[in-house]
Amino acid sequence: MAEILGIDVGGTGIKGAIVDTEKGEFISKKIKYGTPKPSTPESVMVVINQLIDDMNWRGKPFGCGFPSIIKEGICHSAANIDKGWMNLNLSEYFKEHTGSDVTFVNDADAASVAEMTHGKGKGVMGTVILITLGTGIGSGIFLNGKLFPNSEFGHLLYKKSVFEHYASNGARKRKDLSWKEWGKELNTYLNHVDLLISPDLIILGGGVSKYFDTKFSQYIDVNTKIVHAAMGNDAGITGAAMACQKASSL
Ligand code: BGC
Repeated sequence: MAEILGIDVGGTGIKGAIVDTEKGEFISKKIKYGTPKPSTPESVMVVINQLIDDMNWRGKPFGCGFPSIIKEGICHSAANIDKGWMNLNLSEYFKEHTGSDVTFVNDADAASVAEMTHGKGKGVMGTVILITLGTGIGSGIFLNGKLFPNSEFGHLLYKKSVFEHYASNGARKRKDLSWKEWGKELNTYLNHVDLLISPDLIILGGGVSKYFDTKFSQYIDVNTKIVHAAMGNDAGITGAAMACQKASSL
């Protein structure tokens, strides 16, 4: 049994738990802190170190989902996190400030790998896209179970900026949109994604996805099957731990 700490750094919260990666279940309680404002590397490190101490995980390897394009441990974008993270070598920075070897993965990729392994995407062939509706919008795309990493489908151009500024859960809260108002923006977004990649299944993730059936599915009309994620907001933590396990077993 592999038990690994997973940490999910988001634009609003930083959360972690120790995960049984084979079962996709938490074996510790989940701990969540607010993302510091501004979310500079220094201030985020304080929270990460607190989480490591909470979990009694000092010095051990762990996995971290990060809301950016990540290539070989380097941060290549900073849409919902302080610009000070741009181009930082996260692996080196975290090693220096925590003492741990840390495996980094885009947060939506982490969540979608977890959901494809342990949730609603399990065993689904063809093209599957998981869309995380959080502070921003993240995406994880799979063809026959294999991830196409670092897709950024929240950044498709829309109106004067990008879709995540209109259809994310962050936009719903910030603009105080009704479920109907927000549902219409989300419907436009999902239809656009559907047109671009013709998926066989769309999975909606992020905390707000648990309200899909009760609050907003009535505003969504897309020609492709849509389900809400089984693992909700916990998928990012589980996927981060799974990424660490995969990296250390190579
Ligand atoms: C970032 C993505 C991230 C998503 C969800 C977007 O703004 O560009 O990398 O996956 O937010 O956090």
